[in-house]
Amino acid sequence: MPDALPVVAVLATGGTIAGAQADATSAGYKAGSFSVDDLLAAVPQLAGIARIRAEQVANVGSQNMTHDVWRALAARVDALCQDASVAGIVITHGTDTLEETAYFLSLVVRHDKPVVLVGAMRPATALGAEGPANLYNAVALARHAEARGRGPLVVMNEDIHYAREVQKIASAGLCAFSSPNRGRAGVMHGGAPKFYSRNATTHSTQSEFSLALLEKSGWPRVGIVYAHADLQADVIDFMASVCQGIVLAGVGDGNATDAAIAALTRAAAAGVAVARSSRTGSGLVARDVELDDAALGFIAAADLSPQKARILLMLGLSATRDPAALQHCFERY
Ligand code: SIN
Repeated sequence: MPDALPVVAVLATGGTIAGAQADATSAGYKAGSFSVDDLLAAVPQLAGIARIRAEQVANVGSQNMTHDVWRALAARVDALCQDASVAGIVITHGTDTLEETAYFLSLVVRHDKPVVLVGAMRPATALGAEGPANLYNAVALARHAEARGRGPLVVMNEDIHYAREVQKIASAGLCAFSSPNRGRAGVMHGGAPKFYSRNATTHSTQSEFSLALLEKSGWPRVGIVYAHADLQADVIDFMASVCQGIVLAGVGDGNATDAAIAALTRAAAAGVAVARSSRTGSGLVARDVELDDAALGFIAAADLSPQKARILLMLGLSATRDPAALQHCFERY
C-alpha cells in the first residue's frame, strides 16, 4: 500500500451495514453483527485510495444509540481531527439515528476535517448489499479536499447530505435518505464528490457548543411529545416534571390541542424550555405565526425536525436557559 495515500480513520458503531441475516434473502437480520475489519475486508478497493485505520467504537443497532456512545464518538473524532496524519474520518452507523449523530457531531466537534457518516439499508449478507459501495464512497469523500469545512456529511446511495439537512424518510428501500428542505449537498460520481451547495447554517468551527459544556451542565434532558388528535395534557405535565426541555412534534405548523398547548404554556412558565417543531417531515415552523410564541414563552424550531430540535435544545440548555438566547440558537444552527 503506497505511503503517499492519505490516512482515513474508520470508526464503526454497528447498524445494518454490519448486519447479518439467517440467509441472503430473508427480511429479518441482526444489526451490528460484523466487526469493522469484516466491513473493510468486503471492500478491497479501499487499498487503492487510502490507508485505513480502523476502530470499533460500538457495535449496536442505532435504535440503541446513547449519549454515552456520542460522548465516546465525539471525543474520538475530536482527537483524530487533531492528529495531523489523518486526512479524514468515516463513521459507520445504523441508519435509524444516523442523522441525529451527524447533527450532534456537527455542533460539538469544532474542526474543519472531513467527517463522513455512512450506513446501509441492506444487511451485509443480503443479495445486492449496498454497504460496500457506500463505504467506498464514504472513504473517497473523507479523503477529498472539497469535503473540508462542511461539517459532518452523510453519504448514502451516492448522495451526499449535510448533517443538519439529512433525514431518513423511509423505513425500507435504498432511497431512504433525503434533505427535504434544502436539498442534498451533492453526489458521489466515479469516486469523487460533486457539490451543489454550501451549508446554510453555522456548524463545526463556528459552533459555540462543546462536550465540555455538556458535561458541565449534566446533558440537559429534553423529551419529544408527538402531537395527535385528542392529545391530553397529562403526558406533557409528566414530561415537564422530568425534563428541562420539551420539543413539540406538532401537527402542521407546530401546533397541538388546546389542552396540550395549555400544558406546554404551564411548563414554559415553570422554566422548562419548550420548542415547537412539525411532525410533517419538512417545512418551516416560524416564530409567532401559528401561535404567539412570545406570549406563550415558546421557541420556534424553524425547519429542524423534532429529533434534531431535541439535540439543539439540549445543547442550547447546556449554555443558557434564556428563551430569547435559545430562540437565537434555532435561527443560527
Ligand atoms: C440501525 O439503525 O442500526 C438499524 C437500521 C439500519 O441500519 O438500517
